[in-house]
Amino acid sequence: MSILSGKNILLGVTAGIAAYKSASLVREFIKAGASVKVVMTPASKDFVTPLTLSTLSKNPVESHFYEKDNDNELWNNHVELGLWADYFVIAPATANTMSKMANGTCDNLLLATYLSAKCPVYVAPAMDLDMYIHQSTVNTFAKLKSFGNIIIPATSGELASGLVGQGRMAEPNEIVTFITSDILSQLPLKDKKVLITAGPTYEALDPVRFIGNHSSGKMGFELAKAAANLGAQVILVTGPTNLSLTNNLITVIPVISAEDMYVACHEHFKSIDIGIAAAAVADYRPKKVAVNKIKKKESTLTLELEKTKDILASLGAIKTHQFLVGFALETNNEIEHAKSKLIRKNLDLIVLNSLNDKGAGFKTATNKVTLIDKQDSIQEFPLKSKTEVAKDIINEIIVRYA
Ligand code: CTP
Repeated sequence: MSILSGKNILLGVTAGIAAYKSASLVREFIKAGASVKVVMTPASKDFVTPLTLSTLSKNPVESHFYEKDNDNELWNNHVELGLWADYFVIAPATANTMSKMANGTCDNLLLATYLSAKCPVYVAPAMDLDMYIHQSTVNTFAKLKSFGNIIIPATSGELASGLVGQGRMAEPNEIVTFITSDILSQLPLKDKKVLITAGPTYEALDPVRFIGNHSSGKMGFELAKAAANLGAQVILVTGPTNLSLTNNLITVIPVISAEDMYVACHEHFKSIDIGIAAAAVADYRPKKVAVNKIKKKESTLTLELEKTKDILASLGAIKTHQFLVGFALETNNEIEHAKSKLIRKNLDLIVLNSLNDKGAGFKTATNKVTLIDKQDSIQEFPLKSKTEVAKDIINEIIVRYA
């Protein structure tokens, strides 16, 4: 999954020959999982049709302050459009439009939207080589940069004029790569490695049976997504679940038993920065695993169980620089039990679930958590979706770790 997945991208198209590439750019953004809207300058329609861009973006293209719909005139709200956008990408950006942007000129919808947008603005210039190096253009770039706009440098090659030099708009895939790397470079967990355990573990009794639990793995998977969305490289060690995800920042390591999970976690622990144990690991496992299927001979069957290794406690015992987070599912004296777990397992933060809270714990789409840290600060959160809870937990880790 790309960092652009789920994001709103507003593509501004201005009147340069490179506008024919805007169609591919819309496709690239859509492929990355973004929602795309397009705003065009009136003159850019001579280079690429609004029909092409609205079909590819699956949204109406806007280019005037108002539209005529039969006898009605409908106001196109540039403020709304600017606020909708998570990112505003102007590609191609002509020398004319950039100069107007630098000077606050507001004579078309694209420029009015630019002046209203609060999101990061990326500008991919396209022009002839002499225009690109003209002092006026150089000054424009400096001014736009001073506003916080990000310039995606033009590349060198044959230009529309037939001359060869710098001024060609970056290719659509290069623009997407540039924006993706730029966003990633600013994320708080960039270059951080996060290990997360999720799901239940299955402890075999014989070749066909196991002791397991009802954990769905959802909390751990949501934590993995939340960490990756903030730029982390995630190693997700998960017991058997029905969940799946594709995100190039998340490596999923499927395991079955507590012992498998222990081995996988220790294999990666040295190299990680943050560890989060969200798995519902079996505390006990059958002492002997029958080689063949157990036959029902007797009227009762007694299983002898032995303790599994406590993965989190074992990581806490060897941790050096790692920030370690555990979960505690409690039914009584919740705060007290969670605090003692935090100390016993040498954690930095513990996420407490109380089974007394409706909507918290296993198999639900929601969770209600209380966070307790090493400094004894206690923070209660309301009932939220596990997606939102995961974001809260990751944000609290960042506050304490970064
Ligand atoms: N955990 C673990 N390995 C185990 C058991 C638990 O890594 N063998 C982790 C869980 O992922 C969780 C935390 O330890 O983050 C708390 O687990 P829990 O079972 O609630 O606590 P225990 O220490 O096992 O104590 P008790 O069951 O007695 O409450």
